[in-house]
Amino acid sequence: MPQHVAVIMDGNGRWAKKKGAMRIFGHRNAVQAVRDVTEGCGELGIKYLTLYAFSTENWNRPKAEIDGLMELLVNTLKQEIKTLSENQVRLVTIGETSHLPGDCQANLQWAIDQTKNNSGLTLILALSYSGRWEIMKAVKALAKDVSDGKVAADAINEAVFENYLQTSGIPDPELLIRTSGEMRVSNFLLWQIAYTELYITPTLWPDFRKEHLYEAIWAYQQRERRFGKTSEQLNPVS
Ligand code: IPE
Ligand code: IPE
Ligand code: MG
Repeated sequence: MPQHVAVIMDGNGRWAKKKGAMRIFGHRNAVQAVRDVTEGCGELGIKYLTLYAFSTENWNRPKAEIDGLMELLVNTLKQEIKTLSENQVRLVTIGETSHLPGDCQANLQWAIDQTKNNSGLTLILALSYSGRWEIMKAVKALAKDVSDGKVAADAINEAVFENYLQTSGIPDPELLIRTSGEMRVSNFLLWQIAYTELYITPTLWPDFRKEHLYEAIWAYQQRERRFGKTSEQLNPVS
């Protein structure tokens, strides 16, 4: 079983278009998929679930769609907080959340505070997030610590650098799921997915349910994670 599953929730717009509806209709119908996957991961004992909800690049979408997404975020938080708490889910965020509208930030902070002592699944919402933004931010903070004499340049290694990332303390995802068939990572967790197994499904995000999560995990369990070694090294004939 993976400890950390990450998901690029994609295809809401196409789902709505197929139904002849506005894109926001697709986003609204995506909430059930979020519920299903969160509940499914919690039931399986997975420790971390990271959901890519809004990218740095998504700020370039039409204002009406952005406003609709932010409103949906606030309403969903208000609606789901009770269930999250009952299921021991701890909510955290990664990304430049200071760029979100004030009411979004306030509701997020409230939900984070309400769930901070929960001991089950950690649900990591990536909001106004991109991998390059995260790496640049980390590099700047590390450079400052070097110039302030807090870190010796020679002492920098992968473990030190990771302390400066948004995901500090969280293990890298073993499995990354992307829905809607797109074969790209779209600036998601660039550092963390160095050796992550990728699972891309044509299913559109609003149609994604627990059974699809189980299929993805099953596919992951069939993979041989070699980390550069040979298959023979991993399976010596006795
Ligand atoms: C994913 O669905 C949701 C967000 C990026 C916020 P899209 O809105 O990207 O849906 P498509 O890719 O246009 O179908
Ligand atoms: C990636 O989806 C971002 C999120 C799922 C939040 P996009 O739909 O924005 O990705 P691109 O632009 O098609 O690569
Ligand atoms: Mg998309």
